[in-house]
Amino acid sequence: PRRVTLKTIRQMYARSEALSMVTAYDYPSAVHVDSAGIDILLVGDSVAMVVHGHDTTLPVTMDDMLVHCKAVSRGARRAFLVADLPFGSYETSPQQAVQSAVRMMKEGLMDAVKLEGGGVARVAAASAIVGAGVAVMGHVGLMPQAISVLGGFRPHGQTASEAVRVLREAKALQDAGCFAMVLECVPPVVAAAVTRELSIPTIGIGAGPHCSGQVLVYHDLLGMMQHPHYVKVTPKFCKQYASVGTVIQEALQSYRDEVAGRQFPGPKHTPYKIADKEVHQME
Ligand code: KIV
Ligand code: NA
Repeated sequence: PRRVTLKTIRQMYARSEALSMVTAYDYPSAVHVDSAGIDILLVGDSVAMVVHGHDTTLPVTMDDMLVHCKAVSRGARRAFLVADLPFGSYETSPQQAVQSAVRMMKEGLMDAVKLEGGGVARVAAASAIVGAGVAVMGHVGLMPQAISVLGGFRPHGQTASEAVRVLREAKALQDAGCFAMVLECVPPVVAAAVTRELSIPTIGIGAGPHCSGQVLVYHDLLGMMQHPHYVKVTPKFCKQYASVGTVIQEALQSYRDEVAGRQFPGPKHTPYKIADKEVHQME
C-alpha cells in the first residue's frame, strides 16, 4: 500500500472522505495501527498518562517522546506520522519550537508535528515551524497541556465566547499554515461550525460527528485497562471497540497457573529431543 502523505490527506479531504487517526507509542502498537489501514498515526503526549502512568500529559519530555517516535517509525509503513510537541518544548520562542520540531523529524523520523493552542504566541510558533519546512497539525478546544490554568479536564467551547474563541484560534492556526486541526471536547455544533469555516480538515475527539475525521487514544479504544484499582476514568466520548485488557489478564493468569501446576512447558514447547541417556551423560 502507498504511503499516506500530505497530498493523500488533502485529496481525501477534497473528496469528503473521513480521516482516521489513532495514537501509537511503540513498535507493536504502530504495527497494529498501521496494519489496520488507519490514515494518521499520532505519537501523542497522552503517552504520559496511558503508558507512563502519570495523571496529566505535562511530565513527558522531548527525549521521552523521541524514544517513542523512533519505535513507532520502525513499525509504521503506510500511515502519516504525527508527533505531539510536549509541554515545555515550544512555548519559550518560535526558535525553540523550530528546534523541537526539527528534532522530531530528524531523530524521531516523523512526518509532522502537533502543538496545542491558538493564541498569538502559539500561532507564531506554528508559523515558524511551517517556515522551517515541517508540517504542523493544530489542536484547539480542550488542551490538556493547559490543565494548570484550566483547572481540570472539562469540555470546552460551551459558552458563546468560548465557542467564538475556538473558531478564532482555529482560523489563526490555519492562516499560519497548519494542514489539519484537532478539535478536542467541543460541542458538536461548535465543531460543525469550525469544520464548515475552515478549508483544512478537522479531526475530532469528543467533538461529535461533523468533523472531517476522528481520533481516539489506542489504549482507550482497545479497552486496555480494566483494573478497577488502577484505571483512571476512560473518557465518556470514547467507544471501546474491544476489551483487550481482559484478554491480557486471562492469558497471564493461565500462564501463571500452568507454571504453578507444572503444566508448562509441556512436550510441545520443549523442542530439544534430548535422550535420557544424554541427560545421564551430562550428570
Ligand atoms: O495526546 C493525544 O493522544 C492527543 C489526542 C487525544 C488528539 O493529543
Ligand atoms: Na496530545
